[in-house]
Order: sequence, then structure tokens, then C-alpha cells
Amino acid sequence: MKRVFSGVQPTGNIHLGNYLGALKQFVELQDDHECIYCIVDEHAITVPQDPKALREHILDVAALYLAVGVDPKKSIVFVQSDVPGHAELGWVLTCQSYTGELSRMTQFKDKSKNKESAPTGLFTYPVLMAADILLYDTDIVPVGNDQKQHIELCRDIATRVNNKYKKTFVIPEGRYLKEGARIMALDDPTKKMSKSAENIHSRISLLDDPAKIKKSIMKATTDSDGVVKFDVENKPGISNLLNIYSVLSGISVEDLEAKYEGKGYGDFKKDLVEVTVEALAPIRSRYEEIRHSEELIEILKDGAQRADAIAQKTMARVKDHFGLGLGR
Ligand code: AMP
Ligand code: TRP
Repeated sequence: MKRVFSGVQPTGNIHLGNYLGALKQFVELQDDHECIYCIVDEHAITVPQDPKALREHILDVAALYLAVGVDPKKSIVFVQSDVPGHAELGWVLTCQSYTGELSRMTQFKDKSKNKESAPTGLFTYPVLMAADILLYDTDIVPVGNDQKQHIELCRDIATRVNNKYKKTFVIPEGRYLKEGARIMALDDPTKKMSKSAENIHSRISLLDDPAKIKKSIMKATTDSDGVVKFDVENKPGISNLLNIYSVLSGISVEDLEAKYEGKGYGDFKKDLVEVTVEALAPIRSRYEEIRHSEELIEILKDGAQRADAIAQKTMARVKDHFGLGLGR
């Protein structure tokens, strides 16, 4: 069975972009793959975090994993900092990466823009991500396509190590959904939907109530020609909404265009509100059930143990190939 690994940062506001780009794939893959899903708290501290809030967000994201349908009987679910191998391999790989290639990462450029100085961790973040993936001999990494550049870097580093030392790593592949791979902000469809945008109506969070969902969708930026048609270049707003509608309902974009021919954006948006509310309601209620349960803690503890067993084997191999430690 092929192995799958992915991670989400423990910050609030897990949104439709996270769900359609990443989490939905997590669930689809778990029947015929060996899946490992991580809450990457060590990535979160590359930007300032309030310690209390961080702890809460770790459990929020863990509960959301389960609420969208990740099944701990099939998949390993755990918190990154519970497995020391991530930071350990992260250092080894830092020594195998170049400042030049890290300087080209667009996420770093975006996040450090207009700042006088940036934490070193923000710069080396993609190397830690490579460590997350390589630590588990991962074959497939389901992510939104904003992570493509990081996945390519991971493959480069792994190939470099394999060529320089004994063959150490499996070369992973990214898995991106065609639709939903990039969900755009509702207030500005030229930007991706993000957890950190100030305007709460730029995103739909998975835990938003129906009134908030309605408001955000009805306010969403479209255009003035009133035709429901998929055309990312000229009609980015309506195309984004069509995309969301299609993935949530399972109706193809062409069928949706036909359904709304001759109707205005108002009707289209009203129906999209309904589809979205219906899709998110069961997630919200399962989340409420699990979030404060002892079961959640047990699942994460058990997940960390199982992940650590795999990680330790990889680290022993890495140390052996690099000549680290005593070797016995
Ligand atoms: P992050 O919010 O950066 O921790 O991302 C968690 C997962 O969601 C990653 O796989 C991202 O690629 C994916 N993701 C984040 N934002 C979007 C978006 N706007 N559209 C699609 N996928 C996204
Ligand atoms: N960098 C990813 C993001 O911001 C999160 C992440 C960290 C990740 N480590 C990973 C995703 C390993 C996939 C595999 O979305």
C-alpha cells in the first residue's frame, strides 16, 4: 500500500480552501492508502503565537480532521512536536539545502515582505516540511497547489541526498485536485482564501454558522455582466463560486452553467448558500461532539506512538548513512 502524508497548521479559521484543497483528499485517500495526518505545530511557531491559543488550535484542527471524516482506525493522526524526528531530520536536511533555493520560495517572499527582519524559521520552513514528508517514506502528499513549490523542493533535497549518500529517501509526489486546488478569497478573487485575511467575509470557515455563511456568499465579489459562466480570466469571482458550488455538490461546472442560464447572480448565490450550509452542517455537529472529548486526546497519543515508531526507523537509517552518532 502506498503511504500518504500531509499536514495542516494549527491556526484558527480552517476554511473552505483548506477543506476542498486538502482535507477532502485526506478522506478520499484513506481507504486504499496508509495515511498519516499531522497537525504541524512546529510550523506554526515560525510566526508569533500565543501559547494558550496555540494549544487550543491544535485540538481544534485535530477535531476538524475527524469531523470531516478522517478515521483514526484507518489513519494515523498526531501532533508534530510529539515526534522528535521532525526537528531532528529538519536539521540534517537544513545542512543539505541551499540559501539560494530557499530565497526563491514565494511563500517566504510573501510572508517576509514589508518586514524589517524575518525569523530564520520562516526562511527554513520548507526544509522542515521536507523532513515531515521524508521521515515517513511518503509516496503521496495531498495538498492545495499553493504548496507545489515546497513539494518540488522536498523532491530536490531527497534526490540530492540519495545521490550524495546511500539511497536514503523515497521521492514523494504531490497530489493536487484539479477543482478546489485553489479556492480564492470571496472579497477579492485574485487572492487565495486565507486563514489570516482581516476581512472575515473573505472566507467561509468550516465552523461558520448559516447566517455568517449567507452573509459572506451574498457579499462575494462578482462582476456586472450577470452571466453565470466559468471564465477565470475575465470573471474570477463567479468562476470561484462555480468552483466551490461544483466541488460541494458534485455537479459539474458545465451543468451548473446550464442550470443558471438566463438567471441572475442572486438566484445562483442563494442556492450556493443552501449547498454550503448543507455540506458544513454535519461537520459542525461532529466537531462539537469530539472537540472536548477525552477520546480526542487518546487518538492523538496513540497516533504519536505509531508515527514515532516509523520515524525512529527512518532516523536510524539517516544517521547510519550520514555517519552520525556511534552506530550502535
Ligand atoms: P495551511 O492553511 O497553510 O496550513 O494549509 C493547509 C492545507 O490547505 C494545505 O494543503 C494548503 O495547500 C491548503 N490550502 C490553503 N489555502 C487554500 C486555498 N485557498 N485553496 C486551496 N487549498 C488551500
Ligand atoms: N506547509 C503546509 C501549509 O502551509 C503545511 C505542511 C507542513 C505540510 N508540513 C507538511 C503539508 C507536510 C504537507 C506535508 O499548508
